[in-house]
Amino acid sequence: MGLRKKKQRKATGTDELQASRPATVAGEDWAVELRGVRRQYGRGSGAVHALRGMDLALPRGSFTAVMGPSGSGKSTFLQCAAGLDRPTDGTVRLGGTEITGMSENKLTALRRTRLGFVFQAFNLLPSLTVEQNVLLPMRLAGHRPDRRAAAEMLSRVGLGDKGRRRPGQLSGGQQQRVAIARALVTSPDVVFADEPTGALDTTTATEILGLLRSAVDNMGATVVMVTHDPAAAAWADRTLFLADGSIADRLERASAARIAERMTALTAAPAAYAGVAA
Ligand SMILES: Nc1ncnc2c1ncn2[C@@H]1O[C@H](COP(=O)(O)OP(=O)(O)OP(=O)(O)O)[C@@H](O)[C@H]1O
Ligand SMILES: [Mg+2]
Repeated sequence: MGLRKKKQRKATGTDELQASRPATVAGEDWAVELRGVRRQYGRGSGAVHALRGMDLALPRGSFTAVMGPSGSGKSTFLQCAAGLDRPTDGTVRLGGTEITGMSENKLTALRRTRLGFVFQAFNLLPSLTVEQNVLLPMRLAGHRPDRRAAAEMLSRVGLGDKGRRRPGQLSGGQQQRVAIARALVTSPDVVFADEPTGALDTTTATEILGLLRSAVDNMGATVVMVTHDPAAAAWADRTLFLADGSIADRLERASAARIAERMTALTAAPAAYAGVAA
């Protein structure tokens, strides 16, 4: 699956984010693909259009940051892309599999076997050891727990000697490392991260971002990360800017300063940007 597969194409030019591509091109190998995805809450005059028609395709082995003002649709996008929420319209494909219209059971199985999640609040189970937390996705998916894989992943994130500890005995940064090991251990098609550094100090955040970057560069992982922090986004291959439920802009391989500048412009004049690249 995606993660072990080496990058097939380097994330470089603009071709991998085909905002206006009308349909799937045969043979393309996208990790995440959204076509005409709308998500509406409620109906009639009180309806909220959280996503207004998103089109994007992210290649395997790439690192994408998602930024945007509060309420712009970042979490809704992540939830729809990860099969945790259903779009009102449009299609979502993960690793080439269309998930729109899948039964809840199938979706749950797909999430357990092919996706990894990292949250701001770590979401580790306090009563399990670090090793058991990392083994959890395999257990949930009904697979035999692979202790060697867990040990290897824990040493990759620098916690080779902490497998027997409980999460409560670790620092915040160490707990987030465990969450990353847990997200990567099943070699998922995509790792979705929602503010993974939001609860960490700058130094620890840098370590966590370095780990995500290295998962992409050295393991061929695909990472999609929502963040409010331009310095975090600068670790990604590209940054997508959402405004009012659409992709309003994007930057490839930009510095934190450039990303911050673009965010300021977006926040100051959202109307001028809305729909630019969507
Ligand atoms: N369950 C819901 N019911 C109604 N409206 C919702 C619901 N969830 C989200 N919304 C609305 O959809 C829009 C997008 O919300 P979303 O949570 O995706 O924003 P966000 O970009 O993640 O914001 P933040 O940075 O504050 O987390 C907002 O206007 C929000 O109020
Ligand atoms: Mg949010």
